[in-house]
Amino acid sequence: MTEPLLAVAGLTKHFWTHRPFQRRSVIHALCGASFEMTAGQTLGVVGESGSGKTTLLRTVLGLHQPTAGTVVFDGDQVDYARRASKRAFWCRVGVVFQDPFSSLDPRLTVSDILREPLSVAGLSGPAEAALREALDEVQLPMTALRRFPHEFSGGQRQRIAIARALMLKPELIVLDEPVSSLDVTIQAEILELLNSIQRQTRTAYIFVSHDLAVVSETCDRVLVMFGGQIVEAGPTGQVVTEPQHPYTRELLAAVPSPDPPAERERIRWRRQSAIGSQERTWRLPPCPDSRR
Ligand SMILES: Nc1ncnc2c1ncn2[C@@H]1O[C@H](COP(=O)(O)OP(=O)(O)O)[C@@H](O)[C@H]1O
Ligand SMILES: [Mg+2]
Repeated sequence: MTEPLLAVAGLTKHFWTHRPFQRRSVIHALCGASFEMTAGQTLGVVGESGSGKTTLLRTVLGLHQPTAGTVVFDGDQVDYARRASKRAFWCRVGVVFQDPFSSLDPRLTVSDILREPLSVAGLSGPAEAALREALDEVQLPMTALRRFPHEFSGGQRQRIAIARALMLKPELIVLDEPVSSLDVTIQAEILELLNSIQRQTRTAYIFVSHDLAVVSETCDRVLVMFGGQIVEAGPTGQVVTEPQHPYTRELLAAVPSPDPPAERERIRWRRQSAIGSQERTWRLPPCPDSRR
């Protein structure tokens, strides 16, 4: 068996709400998430809005301090209480956020944006070759370096965000809804770009999306999330063809089919199972760490 690149065990994140004149209450945003992935693999994370996908990524990265659980990267456990341990982890993991309009600092040129990861890693000195290589990989010209983010379209901005994630030649890139804010043709371009980068570099991806159709096209394995919990996990083909959890079946029923008989059957099944009526016949087990 190959060693996992990333092994997450029992990862939990609770948020406490502080409202004036009200009792503090807890939000179980992530409950005991456990999964593993190997190098070069694409792991999809799918679930509706508010299911905890972004919290999972941010907690793995250490942008939220975990309430419980461990993350082991390439055999070493990440110690989120130690800056040096987090920094070493960040040097090996790239991040692309959903919205390329807010994730790029409008006051910085593309050159400065691409140099940011180098300074986080404490690397100084000439970076021309690294900049050229990253821009080549995302198919943008060197003239882009002197320009500002507002001079680019949404798709080009996402290319800049991907170039930034590639600067330190990471072994893993975490992508939080990387194509959700783009229109369909640009989505296809960016997905193809990510695919070709992966073929060349063998970088592993964690690909978050609310869209099961996109995930089933791009991912080797998939985690299905609902209410902060992973309700189903497995190879994408298996999850799509033989869904085990009723929520996965709901997600699949939400994807329209181009084949008319299959589409009629999908609509009939949706009506019959009263999907969308908000009345679910199943319940999630309580969060294992709900004492915290
Ligand atoms: N910083 C925060 N403080 C309080 N609650 C949060 C915070 N971040 C996320 N949440 C809550 O955690 C839950 C999961 O959110 P999120 O991970 O953003 O979902 P998703 O990315 O799947 O849409 C939501 O109920 C959200 O309101
Ligand atoms: Mg999100």
